[in-house]
Amino acid sequence: ERTGRCVVAVDGPSGSGKSTVSRRLAVSLDARYLDTGAMYRAITWAVLRSGVDLTDAASVAKVAGEVDLRIGTDPQGYGVTADGVTVDKEIRGPEVTGAVSAVAAVPAVRELLVARQREMIAKAGRIVVEGRDIGSVVAPDADLKVYLTASEAARAQRRSAEDAADVAATAADLARRDKIDSTRKVNPLQQAPDAVELDTTALGIDEVVARLRELLTERGVV
Ligand code: DC
Repeated sequence: ERTGRCVVAVDGPSGSGKSTVSRRLAVSLDARYLDTGAMYRAITWAVLRSGVDLTDAASVAKVAGEVDLRIGTDPQGYGVTADGVTVDKEIRGPEVTGAVSAVAAVPAVRELLVARQREMIAKAGRIVVEGRDIGSVVAPDADLKVYLTASEAARAQRRSAEDAADVAATAADLARRDKIDSTRKVNPLQQAPDAVELDTTALGIDEVVARLRELLTERGVV
């Protein structure tokens, strides 16, 4: 059955393996894939381009409300555009990465994106969604909620390898972002009470994906 409804929520801190695992799981389920972090990043790109003060929540919210954000859901390659500009590379750069936690903490920005994400999930029906608040807020009725963790050292190692950056600097940046993401007032990074926690520190990607497929089968979802 490759067409039935199946919503998988994957949450966890940066470097826990969310993106790789979510994309691979989506391919194996013949499902769509939504990277909600990329949406917060694209809004952040637009905010930076507009030149408004990042600490001015009302102005940030105004820019967010006006930007024409589009994101694909193909797990094998999705594009992100903001006002018609392809921003796939820019949203991974240090400027956006440094500012995204602040933008993602603005309640009006979250409201806007959560609504968009819910629409996209409803439309797709069969989709793996990754982020920080998917199981707790965006899709509380998901068929499977996963909360991925990994040791701080493993997370920094993975992220610095991805970004070709220094491990110590990456570790500091991860710690800074995790703190903002977990302590913000609206929809902080949070494990849903019914989420399955999986520590990926010592696991390979294939093992994690296989475990999630097992959980879906056990639950009779796929
Ligand atoms: O997963 P990522 O690193 O691309 O996410 C970028 C930022 O966006 C991260 O600092 C937290 C925020 N984010 C969020 O607040 N809620 C989500 N559902 C996804 C990401």
